[in-house]
Amino acid sequence: MADISLKGVVKRYGRTEVVHGIDLDIAHNEFVVLVGPSGCGKSTTLRMIAGLEDISDGAISIGPRVVNDLPPRKRNISMVFQNYALYPHMTVRENLGFGLKIAKQSPAEIARRVDEAAEILGLGALMERTPAELSGGQRQRVAMGRAIVRHPEAFLFDEPLSNLDAKLRVQMRTEIKKLHRTVKTTVVYVTHDQVEAMTLADRIVVMKDGHIEQVGTPMEVFDHPVNTFVASFIGSPPMNLLPARISDGQVVFAGGTGLPVPTRLADRVRDGQEVTFGLRPDDLTPQGHGIARGGERAQLTLEVGLSELLGTETILYTRIGDQEVQGKMFGPRDVAAGERLTFDVALDRAHLFDTVTGRSVRRL
Ligand SMILES: Nc1ncnc2c1ncn2[C@@H]1O[C@H](COP(=O)(O)OP(=O)(O)O)[C@@H](O)[C@H]1O
Ligand SMILES: [Mg+2]
Repeated sequence: MADISLKGVVKRYGRTEVVHGIDLDIAHNEFVVLVGPSGCGKSTTLRMIAGLEDISDGAISIGPRVVNDLPPRKRNISMVFQNYALYPHMTVRENLGFGLKIAKQSPAEIARRVDEAAEILGLGALMERTPAELSGGQRQRVAMGRAIVRHPEAFLFDEPLSNLDAKLRVQMRTEIKKLHRTVKTTVVYVTHDQVEAMTLADRIVVMKDGHIEQVGTPMEVFDHPVNTFVASFIGSPPMNLLPARISDGQVVFAGGTGLPVPTRLADRVRDGQEVTFGLRPDDLTPQGHGIARGGERAQLTLEVGLSELLGTETILYTRIGDQEVQGKMFGPRDVAAGERLTFDVALDRAHLFDTVTGRSVRRL
């Protein structure tokens, strides 16, 4: 199973450059997720790794080989698409074995690999059915099986779960994670869904407008976003981002409300600096209803407008100064619209971004 490396990879369509020189090293057996909004260049990047698009500049290596000029079938990688692309007139067994047959493997070897893939994916009872007789999730599993039988050096997935309903998506997500544990292999997985990225990835690559914004483990990207784009893209509900100014050791919001500058960031800002204060809803919680984890706190009394009960937690809509923010309340308690509550602000988990550059003021 190979490592994959991209060095200065550029993609141009005519005069339009859509991927602007990407550097990325993917380790052997690593599960890497490319995530970002629609149109940011995820599929293009994946298709360049697969060899389905040529690259305009830079180099891509799979294992020790530079593959820039190698056709897709010689790269020994398997790609699973969103629209399963199964052959409708063939049974599951025939679909699974077809690629191997084309590659002139012996019938015994085909049977062995097809049975192995069927076993891994639990397809045994479905082998004589055609795609029309399968559910969406089962078709997706067959598509993955077709990739497995080839014993590729890496799997590439392009939004493989986008066509499935929400419940099935969660189930297939677990299956893909299990599959990666069973069939130890390098995976590059593309999605626009940050929850999918968080739950599947060893490392997340956050992309925007043909650039990589940040590469890190899910927790690194969640806890230490390098800029306001990553901060707002990862996490749901999204991080509150409030314009503010540093004044006398305080973060002062429009409307005059202030909070102390978080101690760990005090030497990273200067008086008068325009900043964006970032606080996740989880870190703005009514007293006694937060996540118990200690650390630096400040208090604000805020009026709650709407609240949304989600079960064990409630989203609270409120305002700091003239800015709308969302907080969270853990545990059961009714909140009436218009009620004023004292909120804990988890300052040790708050972020400061320079307003001009959008970059975190934290040393990274
Ligand atoms: N064949 C093409 N010709 C011209 N532009 C393209 C082509 N394919 C993709 N693009 C453009 O490249 C950018 C990145 O597309 P894509 O990689 O498909 O984004 P994503 O998968 O992140 O949604 C988009 O602006 C898209 O319009
Ligand atoms: Mg895409």
